[in-house]
Amino acid sequence: MSNVLQLSGVSVVRGAKTLLDGIDWQVRDGERWVVLGPNGAGKTTLLQLAAARMHPTRGTVGVLDETLGKVDVFELRPRIGLASAALANQIPEHEKVLDVVVTAAYGVTGRWRELYEKDDERRAFRLLNEWGMGPLLGRVFATLSEGERKRVQIARALMTDPELLLLDEPGAGLDLGGREELVYKLSELAQDDFAPALILVTHHLEEVPPGFTHALLLRDGRVVAQGEIEEVLTEENLGATFGLPLEVRANGGRYTAVRRAPAPAAV
Ligand SMILES: Nc1ncnc2c1ncn2[C@@H]1O[C@H](COP(=O)(O)OP(=O)(O)O)[C@@H](O)[C@H]1O
Ligand SMILES: [Mg+2]
Repeated sequence: MSNVLQLSGVSVVRGAKTLLDGIDWQVRDGERWVVLGPNGAGKTTLLQLAAARMHPTRGTVGVLDETLGKVDVFELRPRIGLASAALANQIPEHEKVLDVVVTAAYGVTGRWRELYEKDDERRAFRLLNEWGMGPLLGRVFATLSEGERKRVQIARALMTDPELLLLDEPGAGLDLGGREELVYKLSELAQDDFAPALILVTHHLEEVPPGFTHALLLRDGRVVAQGEIEEVLTEENLGATFGLPLEVRANGGRYTAVRRAPAPAAV
């Protein structure tokens, strides 16, 4: 498989509002993409399409060599891992950490069987360990810190051994330590040849993990720039995306951006 995602002329319209407007985008196997843009740019909408949880109003969306509208999405969805705030909100209040992960194998949230396959439990256990959550697998999900919850959600997204992993703002609400731990883990994942194709959505440049290969910048439902990460994350492109003059620094694969001070008035 070479094409993980193939969007051609994709628009999403809701009432009078155009959420996405004429998007052309291709993601290939092995690529690690970051999608950046301000609040309301359409990032979550784009991920919903990639997750086969929404259909475009216009254009075509191909996911894992299948075309939305011509494929049974219930067969396609287990091949795609998704971690998002909307999904986390569906987790029942008293759900145990191990169950949050293992239920992904059955495409549900909330324990619905008394007995799971031993293999599924073993895989969930291994994934939780890999994400540093092994000691907490008996805890109730709702009692975890925000950073711990994010790692459980990613372990859950990986449970079905997906070919495409979608992460919608996994750094949201994390403190400095939590964010840095997450960026470090995502950087490791990005450099793992056996990891699925990755798409990470964020509105913070500081959350771009080293090892990500491509970037797509979105503003008002339109693509500002897309391509190889070093060529896309420029002051000009990011300034146009976020709508203010920015000074961008890159250091060892990490990026920061601050508002550019206005030039002093001529005397
Ligand atoms: N069902 C809907 N009807 C109308 N507007 C919507 C709907 N869903 C999202 N929007 C709007 O579309 C825009 C893009 O939303 P979203 O994709 O969530 O952006 P982002 O994730 O980049 O913040 C926002 O302005 C949002 O309010
Ligand atoms: Mg969003």
